[in-house]
Amino acid sequence: MNIVLLGAPGAGKGTQAQKLVAEYGLAHISTGDLLRAAVKAQSELGIKAKEYMDAGQLVPDQLVIDLVKERLSADDAKAGFILDGFPRNTAQAVTLDFELQNMGLKLDAALLVAVEPEVIVERLSSRRTCKECGYTAPAGTEICPNCSGEMYQRDDDKPETIRKRLDVYKNQTSPLIEYYKGHGILKEVNGDRPVDEVFADVKTLLSL
Ligand code: AP5
Ligand code: ZN
Repeated sequence: MNIVLLGAPGAGKGTQAQKLVAEYGLAHISTGDLLRAAVKAQSELGIKAKEYMDAGQLVPDQLVIDLVKERLSADDAKAGFILDGFPRNTAQAVTLDFELQNMGLKLDAALLVAVEPEVIVERLSSRRTCKECGYTAPAGTEICPNCSGEMYQRDDDKPETIRKRLDVYKNQTSPLIEYYKGHGILKEVNGDRPVDEVFADVKTLLSL
């Protein structure tokens, strides 16, 4: 099964992806995680991406598209994948359809995790992320439950940057809801409930 996760920053895309990966062994392709790894490694891409990420802006399409293409052709993506944080605008969505078609693949679902903006600022200001594997958990979690790595607060999880990211989502990413509705694959889950309740609905919606 090949899935795109849609939703505002902090809606819980990464959290639901972690659960889908644990239960169904799909490849988790998070462009945010891939970009943060490039920043950490201080690669040429990471150095370019950092200024956009710190400002809450989208990184230029071509940089992200190249990363995703490479990741989609890796062996573990053959058994199915979850794209988390990609596509982020219509140009990326059109490119994704084109690339998947070339690979003889298609998307089975675009799953929108819907949460109101007020909930988001609160969630993201108290989020901690694993330095090693990108696992996310609420504040108070100091050791990663997944790999025992150190948890930290992301540079872009500050209130003013969160607001900028929400603007970018509204203006550039939310039109993808209509895009995938038009393709007949949009599914929507109410993400403002306990994680396991959201996950139970996700499984029903995806017929898993
Ligand atoms: P990215 O890393 O993709 O960030 P994002 O989309 O802003 O999403 P988040 O990771 O912030 O949120 P999430 O929905 O995964 O929430 P989570 O599960 O962690 O992107 C970062 C930056 O990279 C972008 O700003 C951009 O610069 C760049 N970028 C990335 N992709 C790009 C692209 N395609 N094109 C261009 N640029 C790109 O949950 C949040 C918190 O809430 C956690 O603490 C979690 O424990 C908690 N939580 C989750 N679910 C629940 C629940 N049901 N109830 C209570 N708490 C919950
Ligand atoms: Zn970890």
